[in-house]
Amino acid sequence: MATIKLDIFRFDEATDTIPHRDVVAVDLPETTTVLDALEYAKSEIDGSISFRRSCRSAICGSCSMNIAGTTGLACKTACNTVMDEDGVVKVDPMPNFQPMKDLVVHMDPFWDKYSRLKPYLQPADRDEEHPTERRVSPEDMKKLVDVANCVMCATCYALCPVVSVDPAFAGPAAIAYAYRFIEDVRDDHRKERIAQISEDYLWLCAHCYACSYCPKHVDPNDRIIDVKRAAISDRVMMDERGPRHALVVSRTIKHSGMLEETEVIQGTVGRFNVRGLLKVAPLGMRMAMRGKLPPLFMKPIPKVDEVRQIFETLEVPVS
Ligand code: SF4
Ligand code: SF4
Ligand code: FES
Repeated sequence: MATIKLDIFRFDEATDTIPHRDVVAVDLPETTTVLDALEYAKSEIDGSISFRRSCRSAICGSCSMNIAGTTGLACKTACNTVMDEDGVVKVDPMPNFQPMKDLVVHMDPFWDKYSRLKPYLQPADRDEEHPTERRVSPEDMKKLVDVANCVMCATCYALCPVVSVDPAFAGPAAIAYAYRFIEDVRDDHRKERIAQISEDYLWLCAHCYACSYCPKHVDPNDRIIDVKRAAISDRVMMDERGPRHALVVSRTIKHSGMLEETEVIQGTVGRFNVRGLLKVAPLGMRMAMRGKLPPLFMKPIPKVDEVRQIFETLEVPVS
């Protein structure tokens, strides 16, 4: 047995203007999950402690919260893996969400973004080849099973730095779930789906991999790369800055083995976009004054053939 001190964020939007913290000590085996420790504290010590939960087995996705500084499922986190040397386990509501009561947050922005992407199958009205059923081959289904494991816990959304600075960004879970239908051979709205997710700032993802910590191993970051690849291969909204930037970065690295920054700026902003180029001109002038202006033309590095070979092997699109 161990004394686990739950250091809990307390706030009630109905009555409080600022949050405070309560420390509630519970005597339980140190391998108890954070959720079970909270349940014990609520049933035995303070019935007003609020948090969401249902399954207690990492299936429903309700109990996501910030535990000892990082977000995860309380029912999948043992206290001894997160407590400090004094036995304290700090629990807070998920970041990137407005707290409602204690560890309960307003999930509306998360669900709104998810719903905008129409998370359900939209098959063609008539399919002459399959009048009674639409079958999916095991190979095609393999691409979808990992994403289908998503329990909508919003852990990835809470961890995403882009969501924190730009709330318009759809976020990792919604994009990963869009992928699930974009790649479903039975669905008939692939292009519309890619266009919608592009409008919802798909290209803002900075590929920081923060969302790769997913309790269900969905790997939203990799699915976002897949959706970007689909956008390029299907030529959807290619006049946007995001795909132009991705392609010019690839093109210059394939050409010289280096990032050709001058070319990247022109290719991203648009070579004939005078207004856009004028906007970045002051930055160029400041760099020139500090002697940091990148060269206009770059010579390929000596082993550029090896770099090009990587591009060929990975089939990286460059145009
Ligand atoms: S992708 Fe993973 S972390 Fe994100 S909502 Fe789904 S299960 Fe949770
Ligand atoms: S990889 Fe993209 S979606 Fe995932 S946390 Fe980073 S910025 Fe957000
Ligand atoms: S209680 Fe269902 S995922 Fe934790």
